[in-house]
Amino acid sequence: MTRSALNSAHARDIASVLHPQTNAGKHLESGPTIMAHGEGIFVHDDEGRAYLDAGAGLWCASLGFSNKRLAKVAADAMGSLGYYQLFRHASNHAAIDLSEKLLSIAPVAMSKVLLQSSGSEANDTAVKLVWYYWHSLGKPERRKIISRSGSYHGSTCVATSLTARSDYHAGFGLPLEGFLHTGSLNFYREGRPGETEQQYSDRLAEELEAMILREGPETIAAFFCDAVQGSSGALLPPAGYFDKVQAILRKYDILLVADEVICGFGRTGHMWGCQTYGIKPDMVTCAKALSAAMQPISALLLNERIFQAIVRQSEKLGAFVHGSTYAGHPVAAAVALETLKIYDEIDVVGHVKDVEKTFLEMMKGLMTHPMVGHYAGIGLIGGLELVKDKETRTSYPSSATVGARLDASAKRNGLILRIVGNRIAFSPPLIITHDEVAELGARLRRTLDDVHKELQSLDPAASD
Ligand SMILES: Cc1ncc(COP(=O)(O)O)c(C=O)c1O
Repeated sequence: MTRSALNSAHARDIASVLHPQTNAGKHLESGPTIMAHGEGIFVHDDEGRAYLDAGAGLWCASLGFSNKRLAKVAADAMGSLGYYQLFRHASNHAAIDLSEKLLSIAPVAMSKVLLQSSGSEANDTAVKLVWYYWHSLGKPERRKIISRSGSYHGSTCVATSLTARSDYHAGFGLPLEGFLHTGSLNFYREGRPGETEQQYSDRLAEELEAMILREGPETIAAFFCDAVQGSSGALLPPAGYFDKVQAILRKYDILLVADEVICGFGRTGHMWGCQTYGIKPDMVTCAKALSAAMQPISALLLNERIFQAIVRQSEKLGAFVHGSTYAGHPVAAAVALETLKIYDEIDVVGHVKDVEKTFLEMMKGLMTHPMVGHYAGIGLIGGLELVKDKETRTSYPSSATVGARLDASAKRNGLILRIVGNRIAFSPPLIITHDEVAELGARLRRTLDDVHKELQSLDPAASD
C-alpha cells in the first residue's frame, strides 16, 4: 500500500493522531515516520529502512528496541495478576520487590519508594511532597522551587514550570508562580573570557545564593537538578559545581531533589548521576531506563526526613491523600525488576565505563569537522555544539534550519539524532558496542558532510 493511499497507515496517522513535540501544521503535509520493529540499537520503519537511534528513543531504551525476556516477564505477570493498586494498604509482590531493590541500590540512604508511571508524574509528586514536608513543619511559606536554566523536568503543569525553557512555557501561560530558574550549565557559551570552570561554578553558586537572599530563604522550599542536563543538549556540570551549590542549599536548609530520569541506571558510568557528581539528595526521581522503557513506570525515592513528614501529616489529616490508578502496577513493576536483574547480569555500569572511551573518542574525532565547535560527554551521554565559525563560536542563524537539515540527512544516512537547538545530544542504548559507536560516528560524519555541503551551496561564503 502506498503512503498516499487514503487508508494507508500514513494517511490514518495524519487523520487521527496528535503528536507530542511536533509542528502540528507541518505534520499534515509531512506525515509520520512509522516504526515497525526494533532489534538491538536499530529501529526499522514500515518501509524497510533501518536506523541506528543515537538517542535510545527518548534517552530511555537502554536495552535496545525489543527484548524477548522482558516480553515473557510482562506476559507472565499479566497472566497472573494483570492489575492491582496500592491504595488503602493494598499491595502486590512485584511492587514490594521493586521498591526493596531500588532502596538497596539508591545513591544515598532512602526510606521509601513511591511508584508511578512517568518521569513528569514523579517530578510533579516530588514538588507536592516538598510542599507537604514544609507544611508538616508549620512552614507553608517555604513554597518556591528553584531549577536551572535550560533544564527539562517533564510536561505536567508543575513539571513544565520546573522546566526552565521558554519554548516549553510559550502559549501555555507557564511557569506557575513560585518556580524560579537560575544559571545555565553551558560553560562553553556562558563562560567569560579567561574564566575557568571552577570560577564559572563559583559564579553560578553566587547567583544562586543571591537569588535565595533576594527571594528570602524562608520562602525557598527546594532545588531541583539533574546531574547531566539532557534536554539542553547533554550539558555537563562545570567542575566543582555540585559541591558549591550543595553547600549553599545546606546553609539555607533547602531540600534537594535529584531528577535521575535520564541519568539513572548507568547512563553516566555509575548507577546514578548522583554518584558520578557527589550529589546527596533528599529525593530522587527516576523512570525511562528503570524498565528499559518497555513499560511506563517511574519511581520517587524519599529519605526518612520526608517520610516522617508524611507520617505526621497522615496522622493529622487522616491519610496521605495522593496516588494514581497505575501506581505500583504489577506488570510494569515486574518488567522493571527484571530490567534491574539484567543490568546486574550484564554489568551495565561496567559496560558503559568500558565503551565510554570509544564514545568520547568518537565525539573528539568529529572536532575536525568544520561544523563542530565543542564536545563533552561522560559515560554514554554527550553532546556536540555546532558552530558556523569555530574561532568566534558563532552559531548558525535559525534561518539556516540546520536542525531540520540534520534530521533529514541523518535519516537518509540511517541515523536518528536528538537535535536541541545548535547541539546534537547522544544517549545511545546502554548495550551499544565499540563497533556500533564507530558506526554511529561514521554515519554522523556523512550526515554532517551532507549538511555542510547543502549550507555551502546556499551561502558559499558563510559556511567554510
Ligand atoms: C530529565 C528529565 N526529567 C523528566 C522527564 C519527563 O519524563 P516523562 O517523559 O517520562 O514524563 C524527562 C523526559 O525526557 C527528562 O529528560
